[in-house]
Amino acid sequence: MSISIKSAREIELMKRAGEILARTHEELGKALHPGMSTWEVDHLGEEIIRSYGCIPSFKNYNGYPASICVSVNDEVVHGIPSKKRILKEGDIVSLDAGVIYKGYHSDAARTYGIGVISPEAEKLIEVTRQCFFEGIKYAKIGNHLNDISSHIQAYAEQFGYGVVRDLVGHGIGEHLHEDPEVPNFRKRMRGPKLSAGMTLAVEPMINAGRKEVCWMDDDWTVVTQDGSLSAHYENTILICEDGPEILSLLPETGTAQA
Ligand code: CO
Repeated sequence: MSISIKSAREIELMKRAGEILARTHEELGKALHPGMSTWEVDHLGEEIIRSYGCIPSFKNYNGYPASICVSVNDEVVHGIPSKKRILKEGDIVSLDAGVIYKGYHSDAARTYGIGVISPEAEKLIEVTRQCFFEGIKYAKIGNHLNDISSHIQAYAEQFGYGVVRDLVGHGIGEHLHEDPEVPNFRKRMRGPKLSAGMTLAVEPMINAGRKEVCWMDDDWTVVTQDGSLSAHYENTILICEDGPEILSLLPETGTAQA
């Protein structure tokens, strides 16, 4: 597969998908509270996505059994929602969601604290979010993909954090996962040149401790090997003539600001 350049029509559909996904995250984030099960998070998320006329893209993707990946504390990504997993004060929870609108995908993730969380957890969440914004400063025509990747890594490592190597971001559009892979770490090769009309899911996954991760017996849930906390932040972006446009953030809430 090669990197697809989206037409004006495709970009319109992806903007709509992104807007719906941003609203979904906003509504889900507000609903989180101690005592809520991760199953309830998924159930509500699926309901919101469908209420906008979208399809949750993760459901049944490679056999994934839910619509929202809900990953708590040392879980990095792909946590499977469960009625037995109850969120409690002080937890951090990463919500990853994808929607399909008229055949086009958007993919985004946020990490939230439940009630009051430790200063260390707050900092990890904020730095992970900032990693995304530091990376996409380099999402400019003529730059190479590795310019984004290496700046995400450099920003995270300043804080002594571990940058996950076993999972990467990706191109997105008609499919959830398209070329190219979008690593959050420097590669020896500078990667493809960025050009207008490319759409990418940029998704730093950052551990408070070491970078190594492992898979749980459910074959989905990825956890930090050292048991440290992990955060995830992701948006779908479009490479434009004048820089990146973030498709999965709501401009009017002011959250688009770096
Ligand atoms: Co993704």
